[in-house]
Order: sequence, then C-alpha cells, then structure tokens
Amino acid sequence: NWTMENFIQTAVKRIRDTVGPTAEAIGAVSGGVDSSVASRLMKEAIGNRFHAIFVDNGLMRKNEAENVKHALDEGLGINLVVVDAGKEFLGNLKGVTDPEKKRKVIGHTFIHVFERVANQIKPKDGSQIKYLLQGTLYPDVIESVSFKGPSQTIKSHHNVGGLIDNMKLSLIEPLRELFKDEVRHLGELLDIPEDLVWRHPFPGPGLGIRVLGEVTPKQVEIAREADDVFITEIKKAGLYRKISQAFACLLPIRSVGVMGDQRMYEQVIALRAIETVDFMTADWFVFPADFLKRVASRIVNEVNGVSRVTYDITSKPPATVEWE
Ligand code: XMP
Repeated sequence: NWTMENFIQTAVKRIRDTVGPTAEAIGAVSGGVDSSVASRLMKEAIGNRFHAIFVDNGLMRKNEAENVKHALDEGLGINLVVVDAGKEFLGNLKGVTDPEKKRKVIGHTFIHVFERVANQIKPKDGSQIKYLLQGTLYPDVIESVSFKGPSQTIKSHHNVGGLIDNMKLSLIEPLRELFKDEVRHLGELLDIPEDLVWRHPFPGPGLGIRVLGEVTPKQVEIAREADDVFITEIKKAGLYRKISQAFACLLPIRSVGVMGDQRMYEQVIALRAIETVDFMTADWFVFPADFLKRVASRIVNEVNGVSRVTYDITSKPPATVEWE
C-alpha cells in the first residue's frame, strides 16, 4: 500500500542501510524544493553525518540566500555549510556575454567551489566522505535516458552530477521515483516551510542568465530589484501558485524615457510569467491589465537604471522559458 507516509519510512530506511552506521555524506542544496526535501530525508536517516553544502553564487534572488540558510539551518536543523562565493562567480563572469559560455563558466565555478569545500569536510571516524546526495526526480531519469544521442544541445543545464574528480562518491537519489508534485507533498509532510515547498523553479545559473549580456554586480542588482517587485506583487495579488514560474530579465539595451521633466536613457526590463505542466511546453500567463500597470510603474519608479518595462508574450515553443 503505497502512501507518502510509507514512502518516507522506506526512503529513510534505504538511506540508513546504504550508508551504514558510520559513513558520511554530502550534498548540494540550492533552496529549491528537491534538494531541501532530499536533505531533510538524509537528516532524518543519518543526522549530522549528512553535510549540506550551500554555494551562494551571488546570483540568487533578493534575500534568497539568507532565507535558505535560515530555513535549512535553524529551521530544519540540517548540518549546513554555507560558502559565500559571489566574488568568485562574478570575477569569472567578467567580460563573458555569450549565453552558453556564461552557463559553462557558472557551472564550472560551481563544481570548483563545491569540490574545494567538500574536500575540507572530514568525517568523524577519520575516513573519507563516501556518498553524494542528489535530488534527481523521475522526469530527470527519463530525460537523461531518452534524450541521449547526437541531438543538439539547446541549453547546457547544469547539475552537480557525480563530478567530484578526486573523491570516489556513490550517488544517493532518494527522489528518483517521484514527480514534482509528489516531492511537494512530501515536503509538506516533512514540515518544510510552505514558502520553500511552493517556490517557483530557479535555474542553477540564477540571475546570471537573467542579466542578458555581461553580468556585473550593478546589472545583477537591477535585475534582482525588478524581480523582487514583480514577485512581491504576484504574491500580493494571490497569483503565485497559479503561475508555474515568473521572473524579470534585464535586457542589454537602453531606451529613452521621461521622468518628471528629465530625459532618461536607461535599460529595459522584460517580465516573464508562464503556466506549464512539464516545462517542455508553456503558455504565457494572462494578467489583469491593472496588475501589469502597477508592476511597470513600480519598477520604473523604484528601480534605478530602468526606463521601460515589457511583458513577454511568447509561448514555448518556439521561445524557451529563460531568455538565455
Ligand atoms: P528553458 O529555458 O530551457 O527552461 O525553457 C525550462 C526550465 O528549466 C529551467 N532551467 C534551468 N534549470 N539549470 C537548471 O537547474 C539550468 O541551467 C537551467 N536552464 C533553464 C528554467 O528556469 C525552466 O524552469
């Protein structure tokens, strides 16, 4: 008789049997629901012998890094290592404008930082870390099987993989039989904060692919502030859970505007909000006109460096969800 309550017990027992009485494990957490639920199961199964590593890449949304730390650390009691690596990511991104190159730089920097931190974690029994937790879901399992072959890469999605060169780590994937909605349900049963359980997906490269063109601290700040206005208004209007994913992008062009009697020549924000079941196809979300008016006016008035706001009305396909 398969229920989520049974699933928790089975998953916890499986992890205990795999890891045994003394070995230790690591895993990357992102603040998303998958890695949080997977980490919560590890904590339940092996307590402090699981080390969650949170790499703050400086490309997170407003207050996100703080909230994630707080929720996992104080909230769920997970043994959390936080790495503040924003400078390293932004340094490596200097001068890079090509979308694929940006993704690669961010992916490589992530692996580099993760490896460095993982190597510093020393198990109590003096041995090596033996296990790597991954929040792989069932759709990821199918996708990596069926999309192999000479097909063209549309975007190089980054994930940690078993990619830690100098450590021999066995994978633990407690969610690999589950769909996203089941993971959310599991998160609720495991007392993970609602805000985290229902958070829209956020790509690994973060704001790095939502600042089009070169990623500088100043550009990241503009994208982050505009995004925060948009998401705050969406939540206030009670629309957050009706939308699958929403965000603001900063476009690499400038546009003329007028503020008071001053001429402005500043940048452009594009808003995107979609509804989808599986993220393979998506429709843009139909907002009430007064909602869009309010968001546009707040963004140009409150976010320095923005003179114009547009709303993306392209479905996927042909447009992808992200702009880069
Ligand atoms: P696209 O833009 O490919 O996005 O239509 C589909 C979904 O995937 C997310 N996405 C990513 N997630 N690493 C991730 O973990 C990535 O590199 C990445 N790129 C896109 C995107 O936000 C959307 O939910």
